[in-house]
Amino acid sequence: MIAMNYRGPFRIRTERNRPEPEIMHPNDAIVRVTRSLICGSDLHLYHGMVPDTRVGMTFGHEFTGIVTEVGEGVQNLKVGDHVLVPFNIACGACPFCKQELFGNCHESNPQHTAIGGIFGYSHAAGGYDGGQAEYVRVPYADVGPTKIPAGMNIEDAVMLTDVTPTGYQAAEMGGIQKGDTVVVFGAGPIGIMAARCSWLFGAGRVIIIDHLDYRLEFAKKYAMCEAYNFKEMHDPVVFLKRTTDWFGADVCIDAVGCEAVGTPSQDITGRLFLQAGSATALNWAINSVKKGGIVSVVGVYGMPWNMIAMGSVLNKGITLRANQASVKRLLPRLIEHVQNGILDPKGLITHRIPLEEVNEAYHIFSAKRDNCIKPLLIPPTATRELIAA
Ligand SMILES: NC(=O)c1ccc[n+]([C@@H]2O[C@H](COP(=O)([O-])OP(=O)(O)OC[C@H]3O[C@@H](n4cnc5c(N)ncnc54)[C@H](O)[C@@H]3O)[C@@H](O)[C@H]2O)c1
Ligand SMILES: [Zn+2]
Ligand SMILES: [Zn+2]
Repeated sequence: MIAMNYRGPFRIRTERNRPEPEIMHPNDAIVRVTRSLICGSDLHLYHGMVPDTRVGMTFGHEFTGIVTEVGEGVQNLKVGDHVLVPFNIACGACPFCKQELFGNCHESNPQHTAIGGIFGYSHAAGGYDGGQAEYVRVPYADVGPTKIPAGMNIEDAVMLTDVTPTGYQAAEMGGIQKGDTVVVFGAGPIGIMAARCSWLFGAGRVIIIDHLDYRLEFAKKYAMCEAYNFKEMHDPVVFLKRTTDWFGADVCIDAVGCEAVGTPSQDITGRLFLQAGSATALNWAINSVKKGGIVSVVGVYGMPWNMIAMGSVLNKGITLRANQASVKRLLPRLIEHVQNGILDPKGLITHRIPLEEVNEAYHIFSAKRDNCIKPLLIPPTATRELIAA
């Protein structure tokens, strides 16, 4: 089959003769991928920021597919079902899954206890191959995969595997109260979706911060929010304090993670791995939230050593909330929101690219070329189906 193949930082190849995955456990299913996406999280892998990312791995944790084979233990899926597959691999039975913390499963990642399994996300996240391929093995197939509701657009469905729940959970973790001012750092797909979802929780004012004007323009329209370029400010923290009567925002969301730019000392120490990437957006969030406010972190930090303004967290009495999104927990509500037209996830997709050109797709998304917000990959079999339809 055709699959994306990681060859080292900034090097990706299309592999044409990769063996198709096989059932390895009675609870596995095999799906033929119909759509997959590239995520900002994949860029951390692509840039060599995630430990134990092995050459030869296939990335991709956001995908839909048609079930082609099920293990003998699988009860909820049958061959031919068209499913969307949450990015978290979860057993459904451990104490954390029982609390619906599906991103924190204790069983699905044999390599580490800090993080559950994730498709195509290094051996630190379990070493599972991902969905930027024609076929994927899906473990615990009765738990994650969810049948795509009749009538749902496939592009909306694939956007429910990560971006929509992550943006929604970012707003949810912010504990937004009616009328609150919410500041979102990062106008990538996740930040834009978090800004959009903040209104659903009752925000009175939503501000998004980035340094890419095309993304800020996009966010302004898509999320109906204020959008500002931090490169045009002397200091984004002072700017945000000034615009909130010097109190600070009620809620700040970090939708950037460990590759933030904007503070030279963080950039240099991050690039030299003196810390685990740069924590600029997180520090801006901590410093511009009000005393007693909440900072919600969905931007990914891989390794645990970062230079974070812990003194401000303590002295300001900030609540810091963070997690991988718990996709399965949020799906029922988000499917409803999509069906009722409250959310339009496919509206974030700007590029539709054949899987065979995955290398170019990574380059466009990583270099933020061509006004790219979110690139979708279409495997050759799915392209043929599209042409035939
Ligand atoms: N927690 C989860 O479950 C989860 C799920 C998906 C993605 N993520 C993470 O969310 C983050 C965003 O993902 P994405 O797909 O939107 O990525 P992306 O790379 O498309 O967007 C990141 C944006 O942040 C901007 N940025 C850089 N430095 C900044 C700064 N100092 N202040 C404000 N903006 C800054 C960039 O210009 C870019 O537009 C990534 O870290 C990704 O790994 C987390
Ligand atoms: Zn993702
Ligand atoms: Zn579990």
